[in-house]
Amino acid sequence: MVVDGETRVVAEGSVAKDLLTVLRDELDSLAPKEGCGTGVCGACTVLLDGEPVAACTVLAGDAAGCEIATAATVSTGQGADVAECLRLAGGIQCGFCSPGFVVSITALLERSPAASDTEARWALAGNLCRCTGYGRILAAVRMVQERRGQAS
Ligand code: FES
Ligand code: FES
Repeated sequence: MVVDGETRVVAEGSVAKDLLTVLRDELDSLAPKEGCGTGVCGACTVLLDGEPVAACTVLAGDAAGCEIATAATVSTGQGADVAECLRLAGGIQCGFCSPGFVVSITALLERSPAASDTEARWALAGNLCRCTGYGRILAAVRMVQERRGQAS
């Protein structure tokens, strides 16, 4: 698989492990975080061939040959302004959920640049944040849209 632009080979014995475990424990790709480990919190969200997925719910074998982008590259690439606006809007407190939010917001604004507040809420329904109360995260989404000239 290609992880953050680099071709990585996964041991055959690891194909039945979940992608998050392989990324973190075997490939030292530490941007995706493990929260629930059961597909509920979104802390492990990565882009799998451009689509946001919870890495803890994907078998590593099913990601064979795929391109995976984690928050490590998304937050410095196409989602750099998302990461910056999250910071400026106060959408980051403890930060544990933030890598998942950066990936999910970036994916949302790629498929729907002028997404409404309601659309953003639905798109982020799989990302849990225990600190910010979500208001500041939604403010960050609007800030990105304003900067990109996509405010609705
Ligand atoms: Fe994957 Fe929570 S750790 S969804
Ligand atoms: Fe702490 Fe979101 S900033 S869980």
